[in-house]
Amino acid sequence: MVAIPRISASFPVEKLVEENKAAPFVKWAGGKRRLMSQYEQFFPRNFRAYHEPFLGGGAFFFHLQPRFAVLSDINHRLIESYQAIRDDLEGVLECLAYHRSHHSKDYFYKCRERMNQGDLLIKSDRAALMIYLNKTCFNGLYRENLKGDFNVPIGRYKAPRIFDRENLELVSAHLQGVELHVGSFEKVLDRVSPGDFVYFDPPYVPISATSSFTNYSKGGFTSQHQHQLADLFTKLAERGCFVMLSNSDCGFVRELYSKWRCEVVSASRCINSRATKRGPINELVIMSY
Ligand SMILES: C[S@@+](CC[C@H](N)C(=O)[O-])C[C@H]1O[C@@H](n2cnc3c(N)ncnc32)[C@H](O)[C@@H]1O
Repeated sequence: MVAIPRISASFPVEKLVEENKAAPFVKWAGGKRRLMSQYEQFFPRNFRAYHEPFLGGGAFFFHLQPRFAVLSDINHRLIESYQAIRDDLEGVLECLAYHRSHHSKDYFYKCRERMNQGDLLIKSDRAALMIYLNKTCFNGLYRENLKGDFNVPIGRYKAPRIFDRENLELVSAHLQGVELHVGSFEKVLDRVSPGDFVYFDPPYVPISATSSFTNYSKGGFTSQHQHQLADLFTKLAERGCFVMLSNSDCGFVRELYSKWRCEVVSASRCINSRATKRGPINELVIMSY
């Protein structure tokens, strides 16, 4: 559980949100940045610590800017990047500047191989490589093959924003004091206390063969994971947490969470490779409160 000083037992969201908001430093499949205005009405008014176990690009975290946060994701390269930005921003920026000055098609594929070999010893070097590849790969997609290798090809960008000191400084500032863990979502149960706010944004239940993306990591995310997550949702609610979850608007999800409050928001499918197929689509927001 997160140790929080007594004085911080309750935090009005309004007081936590400040002017200088950081933006996610990676483009991420399923990123929630564009949906914040629709989600804002559903945030609990007061909560203790904030937990986000499917962190991805962290759009919710950067929007809320909670004072106490525990963030995690199964993707070790992603979480290491957050840790390096928190702990060694200058090291990350130095490497990113190097990548920016060497960017080319050949350089991209050499870097991709380098990342998959996993022989870089310094965390900030690995983080910069991850950020460089994310900014220059096709659609900013992170996908692994069965061996766990990142396998996305180079994207078609004229001037990718590889080096963004201003935003990374804000990101680093917001991450000070934040707990970051690599691991599966179930671990959140060991860390929460009553009054905490837990937001789940899992890989969505596929609603058609082509429209959904769940291969964030080599194991994928199955319907069994969706059932485990629904059970965890109930356990956390029973413990007195504010629990919020996003998922596809489909019968399976509605059935899984039938006893909870359920609202609909309108999103767009950014991960479809064909721009014409990225139309608006509904998704569900489930809440325990
Ligand atoms: C829909 S994305 C989250 C997007 C995020 N809300 C954003 O704004 O960018 C789902 C995330 O779940 C992570 N993930 C997949 N399986 C997981 C698991 N078993 N436990 C924890 N995280 C997992 C993926 O690595 C991915 O980052």
